[in-house]
Amino acid sequence: MQRALLAAFGVAVMTTATAGGKPVSAVTPPSNEMVRSRAEALIAEMTPQEKAGQLSQYFYFAVFPSQAQLVNGHLEKGEVGSLLFVSDPAETNRLQKIAVEKTRLKIPLLFGFDVIHGLHTILPVPIGMAASWDPQLVENAQSLAASEARAVGIHWAFAPHVAIARDPRWGRIVEGAGEDPYLGAAMAAAQVRGFQGAFIGSPRHIIAGPKHFAGYGAALGGRDYDEVNLSDNELWNVYLQPFKAAVDAGAGNIMAAYMGLNGVPASGNSWLLTKVLRDTWGFKGFVVSDSAAVRSLAVQGLASDPDDAAVRALKAGVDMEMALIGKPAAFESLPTALEQGRISRQELDSAVRRVIEAKIRLGLFENPYVDEAKAMTVLHDPSHLNAARVAAERSAVLLRNENAVLPLDAHRIKSIAVIGPLADSPRDTLGPWVFKQNNLNATTILAGIRAKVGTKIRIDYSEGVRLPARLHPSPFGMMDGPQPPKAALDETLEIRRATELARGADVALLVLGEGQEMIGEMASRSSLDLPGRQQELLDAVVAAGKPVILLLMNGRPLDLKETKADAIMEIWYPGSEGGNAIANLVFGDAAPGGKLPFTWIRNAAQAPLIYSHLTSHDPGNADKRYWNESSEPRYPFGYGLSYTKFSYANLHIERTSYAPGEPVNVTVDVQNAGPRAGDEVAQLYLHQRSGTSARPVRELKGFQRVTLQPGETRNLRFTLRPEDLRYWTSVLGSWVQDAAKFDVWVGGSSQADLASSFEVKRPH
Ligand code: NOJ
Repeated sequence: MQRALLAAFGVAVMTTATAGGKPVSAVTPPSNEMVRSRAEALIAEMTPQEKAGQLSQYFYFAVFPSQAQLVNGHLEKGEVGSLLFVSDPAETNRLQKIAVEKTRLKIPLLFGFDVIHGLHTILPVPIGMAASWDPQLVENAQSLAASEARAVGIHWAFAPHVAIARDPRWGRIVEGAGEDPYLGAAMAAAQVRGFQGAFIGSPRHIIAGPKHFAGYGAALGGRDYDEVNLSDNELWNVYLQPFKAAVDAGAGNIMAAYMGLNGVPASGNSWLLTKVLRDTWGFKGFVVSDSAAVRSLAVQGLASDPDDAAVRALKAGVDMEMALIGKPAAFESLPTALEQGRISRQELDSAVRRVIEAKIRLGLFENPYVDEAKAMTVLHDPSHLNAARVAAERSAVLLRNENAVLPLDAHRIKSIAVIGPLADSPRDTLGPWVFKQNNLNATTILAGIRAKVGTKIRIDYSEGVRLPARLHPSPFGMMDGPQPPKAALDETLEIRRATELARGADVALLVLGEGQEMIGEMASRSSLDLPGRQQELLDAVVAAGKPVILLLMNGRPLDLKETKADAIMEIWYPGSEGGNAIANLVFGDAAPGGKLPFTWIRNAAQAPLIYSHLTSHDPGNADKRYWNESSEPRYPFGYGLSYTKFSYANLHIERTSYAPGEPVNVTVDVQNAGPRAGDEVAQLYLHQRSGTSARPVRELKGFQRVTLQPGETRNLRFTLRPEDLRYWTSVLGSWVQDAAKFDVWVGGSSQADLASSFEVKRPH
């Protein structure tokens, strides 16, 4: 009966398959025609008010009871299309029931949420997952997140955030994949595949909403929300690349950004939302504004008032408005705009169709509810914690390891001093974009180390110092509710105590960085110093004379001065299983193999500093652009050590000469030349020597993460596709592939030095 019903509604039902022993009801997507005609039939019955309602999305959660009141009124009239921030399955069911049983047309709600790096099982922050340089891991991670979200009734993630970030003062660098368009595109596509599965409506998957379209990361001064001015060259070759990859991967939604791009706020920017996104790229999904961004068009000086803002946003290409908390959606005025002829029926209906089509594809008309008991089983699936731990292990980047101090030998060490304000903070271990609605439990680094060594090794702990408060409290602070007050800490005394503990231990393990509310949205900084008195703590512990392992919990480069810590490992905000992952890395049960997804600058004044810059007229002086310090970064893009060593040889390009459009095959041998098994990320960089435009000194165009046993050599093959050799040139205002000479390097970072070259020649 159920199958007949599904089939009748256009969802093709296939035979039941099994995956990992679990039965999977394999469905195929309904045809586009079927979806379209169903949507049209429904639209034909809708009033303009119901249409505007479908285009309105409201926040709904306990910390804003008055907001719930506002929404309830609209909900029963069938004037809400989507809600965000509900993550309790009983609550999604309750609200869905109102939409499906009480409203005239019974159109189900679409529930959205910021599923940024996990819902209940928290994965490492996105910049950390990008540092794994492992798209399959990232795809699996977001697929896991999607399964948890779908189980509780969430249908759509406001993710992935695919903004290129070249200025680490910008707090939202933590949500993306860093500075590089090639790595960014790979991570964007992997996340879309992970969230959505094979198609929109795949069981246990949700719609992905790549954001924030576009250019957000180039905010002036790294200040969140500030304007962005990007040349065509940077837009097409860099900032739009991950979005294009996400659209090509089938993303069902795109979120428009807040800020002005080249003078036009993104939610009113028809060039972006229609000309590029739909006309040039063929995007078929729906576009949502960022929260309050439609009304903001009036605040930002584009629209004259909220009604004008609604008209301009819809006409520019926004299909759904994420409304401002406390106010009805500006889109509520669209029926009046229709009456006045300021928008056409076709414009309104196109937006409604895209939203209704998404609901049809997700199967919400057939299955609006979730099974609450089953949801709990999914959230507590033990394999999810295991996956989160592996993701954290594979994200870590080893930046320094003097005298192979890491990994620690559990048989030789008798005591460890674990020190630092982030060593035992579950909330910080999870990172930003995690709320009470998610799951605030996490294994801290201290707990992970303790669990690993049991009573065999003495563990002493000192908080060391407290992280300072932000100048302006984080807007997200209230989401976790009031925090219990902490007992006062005399930092001077505690630094002394920590130093004594370090002196009395075989090794000191410091966990320093930025608190989770010091990074993310509205968390830009004008300094990259360790906040508060952490540098003083670090220096004092180093001066105690014992080996010091510095674990950094943060999402941007930090200025560590000239610290003499013996080992430095970037662990990001490693998530629910952070402590267990880091304990495995510290004791060598896992090996760090991640690489930096950004250039690690020395201090904030160097920003922006990227590896893929243009060659100047005087390249010999590249490190002398400041008279007071080196203009080279602390660590280059793509950098990261291992517990073993890798060597590269036999870089071979299949031919010396190619016609335009021909793929170029490159092979290289990578050898694990050290004593332990380990992971290496082999990276291929390209440079075009001359052309219509000057091209960057080198650009990432391929990478592969491989695990090699001691002594093992692997022959890796890279293929440069025609799109890897073309670029957008402002001279022609279009893409071009030049006939030119190209240099290729392959190695373990953007400073790879094993080189070869080839030529692209036009046939005569
Ligand atoms: C504003 C943020 O910019 C966006 O990324 C997020 O998805 C929405 N708020 C909803 O939380």
